[in-house]
Amino acid sequence: MNKDPKETLNKNGNTIPAKEVELLDKKIIKKFLNSTNLTFADKIIVLKETTSTNDYLIKNIKNGIEICFAEKQTAGKGQLGRKWVSPFGTNIYLSIKKPIKQYQELNGISLAVAIATVEALKEYGIQKGISLKWPNDIIWEKQKLGGILIELSNKNIVVGIGLNVNMPPNFTAGINQAWCDILQITKSKPKRSELAGILLNQILTSLFEFQHNGLKPLLKKWHNLDVSYNKKITLITPQGKIQGIGKGINEKGNLLIQNAQGEIESFVSGEVSLKI
Ligand code: BTN
Repeated sequence: MNKDPKETLNKNGNTIPAKEVELLDKKIIKKFLNSTNLTFADKIIVLKETTSTNDYLIKNIKNGIEICFAEKQTAGKGQLGRKWVSPFGTNIYLSIKKPIKQYQELNGISLAVAIATVEALKEYGIQKGISLKWPNDIIWEKQKLGGILIELSNKNIVVGIGLNVNMPPNFTAGINQAWCDILQITKSKPKRSELAGILLNQILTSLFEFQHNGLKPLLKKWHNLDVSYNKKITLITPQGKIQGIGKGINEKGNLLIQNAQGEIESFVSGEVSLKI
């Protein structure tokens, strides 16, 4: 682990002095917000360090902050109780808090946010190779680039997005799946604040649109990005494994799997594996 939180390591494992790390700059982030989303500018906080940006918003429910970025998470959380590796000054850790009306919306929101993340990556300049694995894994060329963790707190939903931007190699021992980062994809020094601004703008827009129109207008986009469509998949759930052919999602955002009898069943939760 790095002793000095102001230092990080590059891809070759060499220490990069703090001055070379591009810290998130709220002014640059704001430049990428459209006029509607700019109304949230006062609700953004950029922390040097926190346990988890999701937890920060859950614990500080009354302080008016609705958007939290952090340079480092000491207890970043992933899906299914996993850790989310979150070293200083390298990746993007973002959480957004919103009031929620109906709990059934949850699956839909997480898919809408996943699609918005892909839109943001395209706007940043990554046009090829990105796909989504239900419910919200951001994939590039079969490797995980990012993920989304949605949590509930009172009547609020907290949407957490983690995006690997420039992952220092000495932090990767804790990652138990194929992964990649923006640096590997673009092969040029990532512009973290620009990407953070684009991402926030796309996600705020998608949350607003989801609130008004639901998932229906996004079904075609999901279909085009769905890595498991018409593939043999295994859905891993606490109750056991379900095998079949991926058939996309329904209007609630539930996963559709065709079983051996040809029937299509829908599932609310679980983890999709493309390994049989
Ligand atoms: C996954 O396992 O795919 C979900 C990863 C979600 C990570 C993000 S980083 C920002 C927010 N804070 C957390 O502790 N987790 C989410």
